[in-house]
Order: sequence, then C-alpha cells, then structure tokens
Amino acid sequence: MIDKINSLREEIRKTFPGRDIDPEAFRIKYLSRKGIISSLFEEFRNIDSSQKKIVGKLLNELKKEVIEKFNELKSFEISSEEKISESDLTKSAFPIFSGSRHPISIIRNEIIDIFKRIGFTITEGPEIEDDDHVFSRLNFAPEHPARDMQDTFYILRIYDDQSDPDDILLRTHTSSVQVRVMQSTKPPIRTISPGRVFRNEAISARAHCIFHQVEGLYIDKNVSFADLKQTLLFFAVEMFGPETKIRLRPSYFPFTEPSGEMDVSCKICGGSGCNVCKYTGWLEILGCGMVHPNVLVACGIDPKIYSGFAFGMGIERLAMLKFQINDLRLFFENDRRFLEQFSKVF
Ligand code: PHE
Repeated sequence: MIDKINSLREEIRKTFPGRDIDPEAFRIKYLSRKGIISSLFEEFRNIDSSQKKIVGKLLNELKKEVIEKFNELKSFEISSEEKISESDLTKSAFPIFSGSRHPISIIRNEIIDIFKRIGFTITEGPEIEDDDHVFSRLNFAPEHPARDMQDTFYILRIYDDQSDPDDILLRTHTSSVQVRVMQSTKPPIRTISPGRVFRNEAISARAHCIFHQVEGLYIDKNVSFADLKQTLLFFAVEMFGPETKIRLRPSYFPFTEPSGEMDVSCKICGGSGCNVCKYTGWLEILGCGMVHPNVLVACGIDPKIYSGFAFGMGIERLAMLKFQINDLRLFFENDRRFLEQFSKVF
C-alpha cells in the first residue's frame, strides 16, 4: 500500500494546470466518494495494525496534497477564463446598456424642439443675477412682495465698495435672460430661455426651492395678443396631442399687460373631471401676456414701434402632468429606480 501511495503522489506532483486538465474531472477521480482517496481509506481499514501508524500518516499527507492540487487547478481555471473573456473579440457587443435621460431633460428638450420649429432661438443667462435684471427692469415696483426675502435668495457679499447689499441674488425666473436679450438685440426677437431658477420655498411634494423654467419672448412690429394665443395653442397641441384645447384666464404679472394664465384640457379624463385636474377638466400650465411698455422702455426698445408677448412655464409641472408623477422631490433625489423608468423614452 505504501508503494501505491508513493506512485499516486508522483502522479499528483506531475499534474500541472493547463488547458488539458479539467479540475472537475480531477476532483471526481481523486476526491469524490468513490474516488481513489476514498478507496485507499477503505483499504486502510484492513491492513495490519502494525502498519497503521506509518500508512495512516502517508495517506493523510497524500490527501492533503491532492486537495491543494485541486485548489491550484481551480484558481488557474478562473483566472484564465477571465483573461479569455477580457479579450474575446468574437463576443457579441449586444445588449448595450445605456443610461437614461432625466425626465426634466426629456421635457425641456421637447419644449425646445417645439418652439425651434416655429423660429424661436435659445438663449441662456446667469443663475446668479442682480436685482436690476430680475426685478427692476421688469417693472417690479420697489415694494413688490416678490422682492421680499421670503421668495428670493439674496447672496451676501464681502464689501470692498459701497454697493447695495441686496444687489446680488439667485434668479427667481428666467425672465432675466430676456431682459439681457432685449438690452443687446434689436427686434425682431424670438427666443426661449430654459434654465434653473430658485425660490425660497419649503420643500414639499408640490414645491421646491430649485426648479426649471422655459420662458419665451417675441418682439416685433404689430405683434398682437392673437399671435400669443396662436403660438401657445400650437405649443399645447404639439405637447399634449391634437385633441388638446386651451383656455386663457386673466391674471397679473408686473411685466405684462394684459396678463393671463393658460390652462390645457386635462388629458387624463378628457375634460370630464378627475383627481389630477381637481375635477375641473383643466390644468394650469403657464403664465403669459403682452410685454408691458415700461419693460420695453427699460430695455431700450421703443414701444411706439414694437410690441411683443412673453410666456413662462415650469418644466417640473409639465413633466409631472405628462408622466403622472405626484411628488416633485423625486426629480431631485436621483433614485435609480425612478430614473430607470425613463430609459425607454429616449
Ligand atoms: N416669469 C413668470 C414666472 O416666473 C412667468 C411669466 C413669464 C409670466 C412671462 C408672464 C410672462 O412666474
């Protein structure tokens, strides 16, 4: 039996990892219940007791060596498989897992695309603004509540001059971009300004201190309220479908006169009333109006020659309506379970 153990030992020592060695076959041959090592232990039971001590020691050593060899063969197999898969040029490239666009980006791109088709350009401006562009030139009276600390995030500065401490702030709407366009461009102007805006609001399912807007401005000779209405109808139909109806209600903004708010017929219930439209059949989606002559003057445009309209909408609100999302906070949390639902949209 000692000879048998020694020759097996030789055999094991001559076994090296390689393509022609299958670790599983090795395990079955030596280590399984009916394998060589088991049968040797079986044989061991019947040998002369004077031999038991020395044979038992040899047998245990052999078993240990076989197990070590098996582990060596197995680890070689894993690492060589990894190497092959790293450089396997015949492997299929598909499926490719791409990321998904954020729902806010999807809706923003859709809005931009619709207005681009009727000749609007896209302009962007700074998020950190001054009172002049966000309020003063837009005909906000000095005591207007929107300038109040409740709504606006003011930025404190370290002063090296004597300038007004409330001068710098985070824009509360992208109308400030339109002021910049009017100051630097001769009409006709036809532009939309998408961007992030900031308001000092408590965060809830329906409000956030950061959100996104798209505001539009059209200035030319003889621009009328009918042009505004037609443009917004085109937008609503493109955005929500051919059956969509619009409704304009009178409203107030310091920078437009007359001012309005636009509702679209509720797509969910078709206008008959549901909990999304609070049983009115209508959903409010934007503010609009004819640019106030004071604004034109403040921005260097002669209101006797030119007139114009403006409108502004919140992207989150449109995304919530379009995708049936009921909590605004989801847009800002970057939860993959939420975001991955939009991967098929684009
Ligand atoms: N600036 C307004 C807001 O942020 C929206 C608006 C834009 C209203 C243009 C009328 C005209 O709420």
